[in-house]
Amino acid sequence: MSDNQKVDKTRRNLVVATTVFGGAASVGAASPFVASMWPSERAKAAGAPVEVDISRLTPGELSVYEWRGQPVWVMRRTPGMLKDIKKDDAVVVDPDSEVPQQPQYAKNEYRSIKPELMVLVGICTHLGCSPTPKLQPSADMGPEWQGGFYCPCHGSKFDLAGRVYKGVPAPTNLVVPPHQFLSDSTILIGEDKKGA
Ligand code: FES
Repeated sequence: MSDNQKVDKTRRNLVVATTVFGGAASVGAASPFVASMWPSERAKAAGAPVEVDISRLTPGELSVYEWRGQPVWVMRRTPGMLKDIKKDDAVVVDPDSEVPQQPQYAKNEYRSIKPELMVLVGICTHLGCSPTPKLQPSADMGPEWQGGFYCPCHGSKFDLAGRVYKGVPAPTNLVVPPHQFLSDSTILIGEDKKGA
């Protein structure tokens, strides 16, 4: 795992933190990739929607953005990840997202507008810690673990669609924030077509 942090003070204090989650699941070595881009202080103060460029987001890559003081995860899921989500139906509490933790347009099997593009608020629904991405299958996480997000505070687990596992303290799935695609390569987080 490697970390790079770059601060560009001349352009709105843009901060990019990078970690690499690499490698195929069959290799078993997790090489995480997390890029964090923080909006301007002015935009944060206003709670403004955040425009996100996903043109360079590669399959399996997760980027973290800040919206209204909360981390928002954007990940380009691989075809394998999408298959693994289907396997999780039996082990999650609310497989069909009946609890309204997402806008109506994300009430589907992948909890997203486009299957491959995951957009989630990265805050645990138990007591508000931020879970850790553990994107690869791992025996340490239990035989049913296909990759997802683990909250170290009290052990809650979420799958790659943010659906909460049975038998953990968190009561509900992770929140899908309002969002919309402005183009194939741009997502607006915090506002959807209805102006949410
Ligand atoms: S805050 Fe995540 S398990 Fe308690």
